[in-house]
Amino acid sequence: MSRRFKIAGVLASTAGAGLLGLAGLALSQGSMTASGPQAYTPTQLETRPVPDSLPNAAQARRGQYLVVVGDCVSCHVRDGGDPFAGGLGLNTPFGVIYSPNITSDKETGIGNWTPNQFYHAMHDGVDDGGHNLYPALPYPNFTHASRADDDAMLAYLKTIPPVNYNPPANKLPFPLNVRFMIKGWNLLFFRPAPPFQDTAGKSAQWNRGAYIVNGLGHCGACHTPKNLLEADRKGQFLRGGELDNWLAPDLTGNPRTGLGAWSTADIVEYLKTGRNARAQVAGSMSEVVSYSTSLMTGADLQAIAIYLKDQPSSPPVTVTDPDAAAMKRGEAIYSDACSSCHLEGGDGQARYFPPLKGDTMAQQTNPDGLIHLILAGGRTAPAPSRPTPLSMPSFAWKLDDQQTADVATYLRNSWGSRAPAVGAGQVASMRRKLDLETSYLTVNSGDHF
Ligand code: HEC
Ligand code: HEC
Ligand code: HEC
Repeated sequence: MSRRFKIAGVLASTAGAGLLGLAGLALSQGSMTASGPQAYTPTQLETRPVPDSLPNAAQARRGQYLVVVGDCVSCHVRDGGDPFAGGLGLNTPFGVIYSPNITSDKETGIGNWTPNQFYHAMHDGVDDGGHNLYPALPYPNFTHASRADDDAMLAYLKTIPPVNYNPPANKLPFPLNVRFMIKGWNLLFFRPAPPFQDTAGKSAQWNRGAYIVNGLGHCGACHTPKNLLEADRKGQFLRGGELDNWLAPDLTGNPRTGLGAWSTADIVEYLKTGRNARAQVAGSMSEVVSYSTSLMTGADLQAIAIYLKDQPSSPPVTVTDPDAAAMKRGEAIYSDACSSCHLEGGDGQARYFPPLKGDTMAQQTNPDGLIHLILAGGRTAPAPSRPTPLSMPSFAWKLDDQQTADVATYLRNSWGSRAPAVGAGQVASMRRKLDLETSYLTVNSGDHF
């Protein structure tokens, strides 16, 4: 959330700060492993069979799957807490907002919600008391979900064992604590969507992909660049977004930064297992894979891939030649620090140590994700079919700012890759923003406040 912090500093005292802060409540997600006395892990609950004895078993079962597609649990769980009981604090420049309890508990959860109320929340961003919800709940995406799908999700959520738990009160200063402010943001950036229409001339699979990517899957919430008020930039759908000092890469057909060189099979494998012959998942995509895409059907993953492969390329980026001395230094560092796993020539070992030749992550125009990964290391998220996590070590202690910049520049301009050089100042700034022991993304478990 680097940009959000920067914005906060500049504008916190201006009148625009209210709206801006609201916007800063955009997407961020929870911790991978909830540990503790809870009865279920998120994945166990997401895959627990819905009993046939329920009068609306078929509807609830469909809802369970849709809740997986929406990745609801990632945000509605705190560390050590029960899945769907909420309490995860989403960090914003202006304060912390806690995800609510959406278990079937009648007192603290949504056990008493009617289908109309639930639809209103998902479709319009308004809660059961008629108050506007913060766009931290991705209702600008969820609004595309159908009424029938919303009804099914509520039917499922009502089968989740009740957990009596009240998340802490949000820590938002005036005027951000006034929900009325959200109306202003909605006025500028949000229209409740009309019922989803298939695009004529496109296949049923393409249309299913469009429905998921734009709607419950809320892929653009992370992958579409945002304006200063954190709303999607117009005409830049899926061209790559910044979040959590990381990059959600370009998913358009761009051959360098996007999925132009990926096959539909590559995309499906990545979403199913967290790895493929080209990349391995880290950062906030980890929860998306572990709790959502790895549990989706093959048909839906194929639909997503077909839709993504049909996105026009983002414009090519003009890149000037990198400094020869920096490239030479970078090559030596690569050979010394990286080649043991990623091999000379960036060939890697597919599905274990990702190849860096042609790597899309390394070629994002904004190098924040790459710098973050080199400094902090990474861990490939586990998926049911690939349960063993793999790690890349942190180099923050080993490489100084110039060395990190040089090896990044080298990766971005070797073996056919091409992307703007990285400077030591960019690394220094990332190093300051990263607290390598705590995440800036979320405040896990409001309980210890
Ligand atoms: C990116 C994080 C995120 C994701 C993903 C997410 N939510 Fe939420 N949700 C929130 C936050 C934060 C709030 C509280 C907003 C507020 O207080 O204004 C919320 C509020 C809600 C509410 C209103 C509850 C109440 O008591 O007012 C419901 C219902 C809800 N979410 C259901 C869902 C469902 C169903 C999904 C999946 C389809 C989902 N959420 C996915 C973050 C998320
Ligand atoms: C919470 C934010 C978030 C959401 C929601 C999200 N992504 Fe991602 N995604 C990321 C980040 C961050 C990365 C980079 C991961 C990495 O560096 O390993 C990523 C990486 C990817 C990649 C690999 C791209 C590459 O060049 O390596 C694909 C494909 C992808 N996401 C598809 C999707 C799809 C499809 C959806 C919706 C179903 C989605 N993502 C939803 C944050 C998100
Ligand atoms: C001990 C083995 C190891 C070493 C040494 C290592 N890496 Fe990695 N690297 C990995 C693993 C494993 C992953 C996948 C982790 C993940 O999913 O984040 C990875 C991922 C990456 C990626 C993301 C690729 C993608 O698209 O998924 C980049 C870029 C990268 N490493 C660069 C480097 C650089 C630069 C160095 C040297 C400074 C280095 N690595 C050293 C193991 C290693």
